[in-house]
Amino acid sequence: MFLSKKEKKLNQEYLRNGFVIHNIENIKSLDQIRDIVINIIKKNLPNLKNEKSEKILNNIHNFVESKKLNNFRLEIINKINSNQNFRKNYFEISKNLIETIVGNELAMQLRVGLSVQLPKDSSSLLSVHADTWTGVSPYESVVWLPLVNCYKTKSMYILPAYKAFKISKIFKEKNIRSSEDIYKKIKKDVVWLKVNYGQVVIFDHSLPHGNVINNEKETRWSMNCRFKSIFTPYAEKKIGEYYEPITLRAASKRGITYKYPDEK
Ligand SMILES: [Fe+2]
Repeated sequence: MFLSKKEKKLNQEYLRNGFVIHNIENIKSLDQIRDIVINIIKKNLPNLKNEKSEKILNNIHNFVESKKLNNFRLEIINKINSNQNFRKNYFEISKNLIETIVGNELAMQLRVGLSVQLPKDSSSLLSVHADTWTGVSPYESVVWLPLVNCYKTKSMYILPAYKAFKISKIFKEKNIRSSEDIYKKIKKDVVWLKVNYGQVVIFDHSLPHGNVINNEKETRWSMNCRFKSIFTPYAEKKIGEYYEPITLRAASKRGITYKYPDEK
């Protein structure tokens, strides 16, 4: 392998743990993303116009009822995804990390996801799963971006790669019927990601992951988006309808359009 020392280290970390957490180099892009969210919130809730971004996001449960939250979340995510610069900023945030772990000819999910977890709210939980269990390609990484500091149950958990061998054993057990049964079995082995605003996570979605009821006092805001190398196998999520190439290079463009000279 001709990777640099730095690249090797990052790749080893990803292979060993199934995730990496790193500081974001391009903080300006991150602030721009958070500002887009904050501006939408302030338009909906004008009485918050003088409050700090961090305070608004962490305490949104004091301003929006849990029932209204999903509509509110959808409105935000629709507006965000229709913003021209948003996906580019999202990519810029983790460009070096993704290029080192995934590749430099990338396909990016067309719509970035947004998760809002209010304290004690059970309406938007994601029980333990691996995306590959439902037919998603294992050649993908998820860039998980917190807009507030995330810790303990305000964050997400993942079964680290060095514990992944346990899953095949659990699948073979007779009394495993639900994701709750699986979670009970791996609960003591999962890692709760401690990620601050200003950091980003890249994780392997073929490892079991999920969340539980947020038992902390603050609301979690996080975004998620899949990336994959363009020329790796696709499964459930197809290029064109789910993914879009974002960094196709000249030689590949030539290769895709190449036609063997007709001899006649
Ligand atoms: Fe997932």
